[in-house]
This record gives sequence, C-alpha cells and structure tokens, in this order.
Amino acid sequence: MDEREAALRRAAEIGFDYLSKLPERAVGARADAATIASRLGDLADEGMDPTRVVEELATAVDPGLVGSLGPRYFGFVIGGQLPASAAADWLTAAWGQNAALHASSPAGAAVEQVAGRWMLDLLGLPADASFGLPTGAGLGNTVGLAAARHAVLARHGWDVEARGLYNAPEITVVVGEEAHATLSTALQYLGLGRERVVRVPVDDQGAMLADAARDAIVAVDGPLIVAIQAGNVNSGAFDPAATVADAVASHPNAWVHVDGAFGLWAAVPPSLRHLVEGVDRADSWSTDAHKWLNVGYDCGFVAVREADAHRAAMATSASYLMRSEQRENWEWVLDSSRRARGFILYAALRSLGRSGVRALVERCCALARRMADQLREADDVAVLNDVVLNQVLVRFGDSDERTREVIAAVQEDGTAWMGGTTWQGKAAMRISVSNWSTTEADADRTVEAILRCARR
Ligand SMILES: Cc1ncc(COP(=O)(O)O)c(C=O)c1O
Repeated sequence: MDEREAALRRAAEIGFDYLSKLPERAVGARADAATIASRLGDLADEGMDPTRVVEELATAVDPGLVGSLGPRYFGFVIGGQLPASAAADWLTAAWGQNAALHASSPAGAAVEQVAGRWMLDLLGLPADASFGLPTGAGLGNTVGLAAARHAVLARHGWDVEARGLYNAPEITVVVGEEAHATLSTALQYLGLGRERVVRVPVDDQGAMLADAARDAIVAVDGPLIVAIQAGNVNSGAFDPAATVADAVASHPNAWVHVDGAFGLWAAVPPSLRHLVEGVDRADSWSTDAHKWLNVGYDCGFVAVREADAHRAAMATSASYLMRSEQRENWEWVLDSSRRARGFILYAALRSLGRSGVRALVERCCALARRMADQLREADDVAVLNDVVLNQVLVRFGDSDERTREVIAAVQEDGTAWMGGTTWQGKAAMRISVSNWSTTEADADRTVEAILRCARR
C-alpha cells in the first residue's frame, strides 16, 4: 500500500469511527479554539508521514468538534449529511474536479446541470430559469440581487457592470425589518447600501405586514428591488409573497428577490405550500442545500427568471477560459475555480427522490411541533412563535437571565445543543429541527434534557 492509500484508508477509518459514535457523543464541543490551537504545535522544518498527519490532526481537534451532524443538534439552521451525499462528498474530494468550466470537468458540468434542473422542478420554480450553485444562500442573495441590479438599470439603458453605480438612476430597495443579515451584506457588496433601504414593518412573527409592504411598493416609481424572505431565521415566518407579487405587477420596473435559505423547501410538501404562495412569481430565489436538504458544506442554490440578467451580472471572460457551447458552471456564481458541489447535491436528490424530500421536510416540522407542544406544557416555559415550520423559540421564567442560564446548562449537559437569540427584545432559546436523522425519541430526549436543566 503506498502512502496515499494508507493515509486515505486511515482517514476513512477515523471518519467511520467518529460517525458511529456521534449519536451518543456529547453534542457540543469540549474545548475552545485556543485550546485546540495549542495542541497543533508549531510549523516544523521536517515534514511528516501522511498517515501520522491525519492521526495527529484527528486527535488534536477531536475535543473541538461539534456534533452538528448528529440527531440532537438543533443550533442555527444546520442540517446533517444524508449517507449518499456524504459518500459522494468523499468521492468529490477523491476526484478533485475543478467544476468551474466544462473544459475542466465535463462530469462536474453535467451533474450540476442535471441537479440544478431537478432543484427548479422540486422547488416549483420556472423550468427555464437559470441557476448556479454558490457556497451558500448568503452568496445566493448576492447573486440574485446582482441580477436584479443589472435588470432594473438595463431597463433604463444603464450598463451597471461596465459603468458602475456612478450617476446611475437611483434604485429603491425595499426589505422587511426582519431581513436576514446576509441580505444586508449583499446590499453592502453591491454598492446599494445596507442602510439605504426602505424597511417594511413586520408582525409579531417577523413577517412583513402586507399593507405596509404594498404601500412601500406603490410609493416608488423608479427602479425598484423588493427582497422578501421565505422563512425567518428565528421564527420560520414567511413574508406575504402574493401581496408583494400583486403590488409589483403594475410597477414598470421592479424585481422581487426571495431569500429562502431554508423556508423555500416549504414548496415541496403540499401540506406546507400555502406558506410559499406567490413565491414562484418572484424574479430570483436563493436557498441552501446544506441546511434542510442535508447536503454537506458547502452548497447553496440560486435561480433567476431572466437568464440574461443573471449571466450579465456574473460572467466575465478571459482568453484562456475556453468557453464552450454548453452551460458553464462559473458564469452563474461569484467564484470561478471550485469544488464540484453538484455531486453532493445530485446524490442527495437521487437518494431521497421527491417523496423523500417531502417526508424529510414534513418530519422536521412535525418534530418541531412535538417539541413545542411538550415544552409549552411545562411550568414557566413559553413558546414565543407560531410553529409553522421547523423553528421553535422558547423562553424560561419570562426572564432573559434565566433563559440564558438554561441555554448554557443545556449546552453543558451535552445531550443536545441549541443556541440563543433575541426575539422582539427578549432572550430566547432557538430550536431548529433540520437533521434527517432526528427521531421522535431524540426530540423527546432533548425536551427531557431541557426541562431537567431548567429545573436545576
Ligand atoms: C433566511 C436566511 N438567509 C440566508 C442565510 C445564510 O445562509 P448561508 O450561511 O448558508 O450563506 C441564512 C442562514 O441561516 C438564513 O436563515
């Protein structure tokens, strides 16, 4: 066995061992970054045998690993890894394709194209929309808003890619007060200004008030971009997409972008489709595969109704870049050289099929409701949001201090892991049920752990 094979086999063994112990390992990390860094040593003059490097690395970092692939991790909005997708991920590393160009990997080009079309179909988006695979929904927002910026200015005869925003017609950007932070960074990157927006007030679930959204839109007669949200990162609430679509219908130059990092998946099960009513009438959409589809990092998805605006906003050219007649992956996202993340997306969709995606989304929502119902029953525990999706916000003793104490105690206990947030000025525990492997028993065990910690 040569040294490469030995190192890869050892890495696989260590990986299997980690994954098999994951369900019973403490979910949170047991050491902080400074401690892990101190275990890594200094840069040496001499090199090291590859297998030993792998073993040393695994031993050094182990206490700092977070069991976020496991069934009782409910932090942020972090999915696990479906077995087929995880296996395809290992192969993606083995094959090491640069999926930027057809010339650099016909396989990478083909798989991304097929998986992208399946995503449009599954999410109920126009079959002829263009799409790309950014690293995540945050950069998907940047891509969607770049296409929006291109289109609304091109309709005024302004080429923003060539001339920039100097002396360009002014664009009004309308967002909800609860827009995700990455929406603001997208505006910041694109020169549209994170503060130079019209903010629409929201209801007690964090969704734009429909009347206020309509008023904000009809007040604008120049170029207009409206960015709505499908799935509030805390509550899971949806902005009123149908009202927004109706309001922009009579506007001469508007574009609607949807940030649906996880909420766009509500389009898959018929039981949740009412939440995304009108979302398919937008012009661009951003979501993640590495959240609810349970694809490993990193894999987002962005789709744009007007392919020409999408490509104009993203593509550049250079003489050596051998553009083919076929779809080029890199023309639809911000990065050029990159891994073939289409393989992991394809494997997830192929292994689940439509019915599997539907079941995954429905199961997570049912588990979120189950946990909310059990928590609501307990003394001094309040569920702050309407549990319409997979997100639950919990508060203890109607006290910020006590809520933060319970969150810290649960994290320390190790049975499960969830983070905190501030919801409408109050501290809350955030539970996001996003993992394919979470069962009812995991949900019940987690609630028991939370209530045990709360009683201490
Ligand atoms: C609504 C929303 N938009 C965007 C993002 C950013 O996604 P990513 O970190 O994958 O870029 C998130 C992450 O939770 C989100 O919830």
